[in-house]
Amino acid sequence: SEQGQLSGKKVLVTAGGTVERIDPVRFLTNDSSGKMGYAIAETARDMGAEVTLIAGKATAPVPRGVKVVSIESAHDMMKAVLERLADADVVIKAAAVADYRPAEQARQKIKKKSEEMTLTLVKNPDILQTIGSMKTTQFVVGFAAETERIDEYAMDKLQRKNCDLLVANDVTQEGAGFGTDTNVVRIYDKNGLVQALPVMTKQGVARELLNLVAERIGRGEGA
Ligand code: PMT
Repeated sequence: SEQGQLSGKKVLVTAGGTVERIDPVRFLTNDSSGKMGYAIAETARDMGAEVTLIAGKATAPVPRGVKVVSIESAHDMMKAVLERLADADVVIKAAAVADYRPAEQARQKIKKKSEEMTLTLVKNPDILQTIGSMKTTQFVVGFAAETERIDEYAMDKLQRKNCDLLVANDVTQEGAGFGTDTNVVRIYDKNGLVQALPVMTKQGVARELLNLVAERIGRGEGA
């Protein structure tokens, strides 16, 4: 049975969107609802894992029976993940992390003045890439949200970020990506495509993905 497939395993999941503050009342974010990552956290819990969920901005109800750490920015998420990395057996990065943040965060609400204003953005650290470069025995799963050339971009991310598995969703496809209850994903390892799944609920995707993870860590993959 699937039930105890991850028992004794510590699974770290990131979900939701990061929030990058402009001033105390304004921010940049994205359309992530948290549904995909939350479904992974719930399913891992059901498979017997001890789950920690690092959650950004999300609209989905917080899963029960998992430890939830709420964060706002990519920086906060990076810190929360790195603090728990050594202790994790599996890390799954379903969060939509902002690639850029405002160069400055105004301490007071920015006043309306000129007709135009420019917001300067600076690059955020890449959390997944950092994990990939540091990992020892952890099994690392990345996600990729793409709008074109899925196979090519997914394999490029898998290699650059040193993931054991990468889950790509074509977010232009009906029933896939941000906000939906369903997803359509293609899962890769370093040798290429492992599984191309049809449209299914995010719970269904979570189950397929975690079955693969359990099977592979059972064979001693990771490291
Ligand atoms: O939350 P939902 O509404 O259910 O939507 C699910 C989802 C579309 C958000 C999810 O399925 C998904 O694709 N998540 C990854 C979104 C994303 O940021 O993709 P990316 O291609 O920009 O990033 C690739 C990977 O690097 C991701 O694992 C991401 O977490 C990670 N990353 C990206 C940038 C950064 N600075 N640090 C990172 O760790």
